[in-house]
Order: sequence, then C-alpha cells, then structure tokens
Amino acid sequence: MTTRLAERTIAVLGFGNQGEAHAQNLRDAGLEVVVGARVGGGAEARSRALGFPTLDLPGAASRAAVVALLLPDEVLPLVWPAVAPALAPEAALVFAHGYNLVYSTLGFPERGDVVLVSPAAPGRVLRASHERGETVPGYLAVHLDRSGAAWDLAAEYAERLGCAPVWRTTVREETEVDLFGEQAVLCGGLNGLLTAAFETLVEKGYAPEMAYLECIHQLKYLADLLHERGLAGARGSISATALFGDFTRGPRVVSEATRAELRALLDEIRDGSFAREWAGEVGKGKVWLRARAEQAAAHPLEEARRRALEAGEERP
Ligand SMILES: NC(=O)c1ccc[n+]([C@@H]2O[C@H](COP(=O)([O-])OP(=O)(O)OC[C@H]3O[C@@H](n4cnc5c(N)ncnc54)[C@H](OP(=O)(O)O)[C@@H]3O)[C@@H](O)[C@H]2O)c1
Repeated sequence: MTTRLAERTIAVLGFGNQGEAHAQNLRDAGLEVVVGARVGGGAEARSRALGFPTLDLPGAASRAAVVALLLPDEVLPLVWPAVAPALAPEAALVFAHGYNLVYSTLGFPERGDVVLVSPAAPGRVLRASHERGETVPGYLAVHLDRSGAAWDLAAEYAERLGCAPVWRTTVREETEVDLFGEQAVLCGGLNGLLTAAFETLVEKGYAPEMAYLECIHQLKYLADLLHERGLAGARGSISATALFGDFTRGPRVVSEATRAELRALLDEIRDGSFAREWAGEVGKGKVWLRARAEQAAAHPLEEARRRALEAGEERP
C-alpha cells in the first residue's frame, strides 16, 4: 500500500450515511480523522458520541490535508462558499459521487488532487462489512491530478475504507451510471413496480396483506439470491413454473415502451436536464419533494405491511 494518507489528517465533512462509515473505517485503519458537522445538528452529536474531534465544516476543512466531501449532493454547493476559503491550497479532495464534479462549478484549491472514491453500497453496509472483515466493491476516478499521484491517493483511500475490488472509471461515467441505476432500477423502477403490482392485486379484490407479502416483502429473498449467485444463479434456484413465467411474462412488464423510457431517462441524465430539474426543485426548497414523500408514505401498502407483519390477523 502507498502511504499518502498515513501522516495526514483527514476531514470527513458530513456524518450521515457515508460520512459516519468513512470516518469510522478510516479511523480503524489507523488514520487521524476529524469530522465536520453543522453546529447543533444530529451529526455533530453522533460524531462526538463516537469520540471524533468535531468542528464546524470550515473548521474541520482547515485542519486537514485530505478532505472527504460527504454532504448530500444538493447541499454541497450551498455550503461551498463557506468551506472553500478554509481549504489549504494543497488540500486533496475526495468525493463519493461525481454529481457536483459534473453538474456544478465548484472552485477547488490550487494545488490539491481531486478524486472520486465511491463505494457501491450504502454507508451502513460499508461499515457492517468492515466490522465483519469484509469489503464492498467501489469505483475510483480522478478529476484533477495535480500531484501526479492522484490515482495512488484514490486507491489508498479506497483500500483503507474497505472498498475492494475497485473499478477504475471516469467521473462522468460514475455519475451517469449511478444516477441511471437509482432511477431505472434501485429506486424509481423498483418502487414504481412494487407499488403497481400491489395496487393491481388489491384492485382485483385480493387481500392487501397478501399483496404486500408476495410482491414486496419477499423481494429481499430474491435480492439476496441475486447478490450471492448472480442472475443465472438466482434463476437456477426458482421453480420451473416461476422460470417459465419469468421468460414469458417479464418481457411484457419490461416492454419495448419501457426500454424507450429507460433510454429517455439516460438521455436526460447525460444532457443535464435531470440535474437542472433537480436544481430547480432544490431552489424551491424541495416543497414538492416533501409533499410527494408524505403522500407516498400514506399509501395503503404501508398499512398492509403493518397488518401483515405485526398484527398477524387471521381472515375467516
Ligand atoms: N447514500 C449512499 O448510499 C451513497 C452511496 C455512495 C455514494 N454516496 C455519496 O456520498 C455523499 C454523501 O451522501 P450521504 O447519503 O451519505 O448523505 P446524507 O446521509 O444525506 O448526509 C447527511 C449529512 O449531511 C449533513 N447535512 C445535511 N445538510 C447540511 C447542511 N445544510 N449543512 C451542514 N451539514 C448538513 C447532515 O448533518 P445533520 O445531522 O446536522 O443534518 C449529515 O451529517 C454524496 O455525494 C452521495 O452521492 C452516497
């Protein structure tokens, strides 16, 4: 392992999903970590409780040779005018997602490297895997190589963080693939499909609790199989009836019209129109987003979940 990090203080700005895991894993790896959090927030209290020196964002940024920017992507441009002047001219920056490198115009320190180390897992999985002595895959990219050794910095950060194997990519590729994955499958596509399948059964008079158990609750078991064995391996573990339904009905659910929409989603990511739309919503205080999330949380499938998993009510 190279030792570009051993003698340097690392500031982790943001102590949420990724930040808390990065701070703990890097400290376990023997590095000196300070945390940046807003004063009086939940992150500040959690960070102090875990024993990290905790300062406000500019305070932590000014103390470090390497600064990991682990704030929400829509928040970073808002706090950057306070953080950027605090950075040393040679401070290196680590991003966990390329969003602001592609869609924002942040000014960076004159002489520092800017790299991307993106774990392909939520922070709590990154931390739990590390505690079990396991790693999660990740992406590495270099945005600015001022030192001539930015790839080494990214690789060492990833190694100490517990990311392996790592896939070397570009900032743009990581950004576009990540956004597409969450919109097409992991969040948008999946949540939309689960909700539509639940509603279809309930509309036809089936018990909401059973619709929930069948179409939503059981997903975890199939996802675990996919994770462990891949698509072909998972298909090898289902019944012949399920497999026949998969190959004959799956293409009707994901039809040519669906594929056209997938291509449209990707176009909107690549031409920046998704980012502009999101920036507009952020500019309006995320009012629509909050209202939409509240509406979704009140969907009857949540009550069906409670009844199916907690009440255990028997039908006559
Ligand atoms: N989530 C993932 O699984 C994942 C995976 C790979 C990469 N990433 C990337 O990792 C980065 C961090 O994402 P995340 O999901 O970890 O973020 P997150 O959990 O949403 O971050 C929350 C943190 O940001 C702080 N924060 C929020 N608003 C703030 C403000 N206005 N001023 C100061 N601090 C503020 C919170 O502090 P308080 O407690 O005080 O509110 C908390 O420490 C992003 O670039 C993201 O794309 C995320």
